[in-house]
Amino acid sequence: MLFSVVPKEKRKDLFNYTQEYNHLIKNIKDKKTPITVITGLRRTGKTSLMKVAYNQTRTKKIYLDARELGKNMNEVSRNILIELTKDDYLSRILGRISAVEISHFPVSLKIELTKNEKRLLDVLSQAGEITIFIDEVQKLKSIGFDNFISYVYDNLPNVKFILSGSEIGLLDKFLGRESSKTALYGRAIDIIHLHPLTEEKSVEFLERGFKEIGRKFEKEKLKEVVYRLDGIIGWLTMFGWFVSKKNTVDRATNNVLIEGGKLVKKEFETFLSNRYQAKKRYTLVMKIISQEPALWSEIKEYLERKEKKRINDKQITKYLDNLIDYGFIVKKDRKYMIADPVMISVFKR
Ligand SMILES: Nc1ncnc2c1ncn2[C@@H]1O[C@H](COP(=O)(O)OP(=O)(O)OP(=O)(O)O)[C@@H](O)[C@H]1O
Ligand SMILES: [Mg+2]
Repeated sequence: MLFSVVPKEKRKDLFNYTQEYNHLIKNIKDKKTPITVITGLRRTGKTSLMKVAYNQTRTKKIYLDARELGKNMNEVSRNILIELTKDDYLSRILGRISAVEISHFPVSLKIELTKNEKRLLDVLSQAGEITIFIDEVQKLKSIGFDNFISYVYDNLPNVKFILSGSEIGLLDKFLGRESSKTALYGRAIDIIHLHPLTEEKSVEFLERGFKEIGRKFEKEKLKEVVYRLDGIIGWLTMFGWFVSKKNTVDRATNNVLIEGGKLVKKEFETFLSNRYQAKKRYTLVMKIISQEPALWSEIKEYLERKEKKRINDKQITKYLDNLIDYGFIVKKDRKYMIADPVMISVFKR
């Protein structure tokens, strides 16, 4: 069902993105691509692409959601081991390892290995070809999981990673794309980027989805919907879902702005929750650029006018960088903007 609102699992439910899908499948098969990363704005279908590819993969594999893996390296390693040992073959390997006491691995200078980490590396070293899918991997930066991946990259050519995450800038930082001081800096990482759908593809998606549920609408009507919701497949899916629940087209579009808006708001509040002091400023930044894209200097001027005092340049840059890191805003042609119409509607109110 194209209008099902959970991430897709089956190939037949994955609309478009054929090239990206084939690219990912090729990388999973190809021995020379140890790390592949799926990036893209929020709700463009990263998790869906990853899950469908995972389900289509015949080699040994595990799928992990980093939000559920634990708070430190030892716990995370243990949970990955639990996942791995759901496979009979790997479970036997672990049995053998536990019996003999672990690790003939040289302790790397860069990382100190916990007991479970050693055990995990031992299992992985004997696992044969294996692909590890991790969604929301940027969440594991604080516990040094990037060190772990780079260690595996350097020492275990049989292990492949497929990574993704919704906080695009943090994902970049996890991957060390910006700083030579990070663990994964300079490693060969293949990026698959998911773009929003074009207007034409968006309309086609809606038509196909409606055909599945025995409905049909004028093309012009659907174009209006796409004009309001844009080509973000997550919102178009939610729209279709609302229509399937007996909403009129107009009502369903409004419901996406309202219900989707609540979702966006919640994500933004989570972002603000440990930024107590700058809460108001972040919200003001979102407010001004929800009106129209703005230059750095315009944002600074607006904040200063609102607060009636000068604000340090570095602070302004930090706010904007953080908002980009968490995927709330993008920078295009020197201007900061919100790319998501639902998010725009939340802050414009
Ligand atoms: N190619 C696709 N075909 C059909 N539906 C899709 C496709 N990609 C995503 N969807 C739908 O869009 C919504 C968002 O998808 P998904 O969770 O995979 O996106 P995401 O990029 O991982 O989002 P986030 O950035 O929040 O993690 C879901 O309802 C999903 O079913
Ligand atoms: Mg996702």
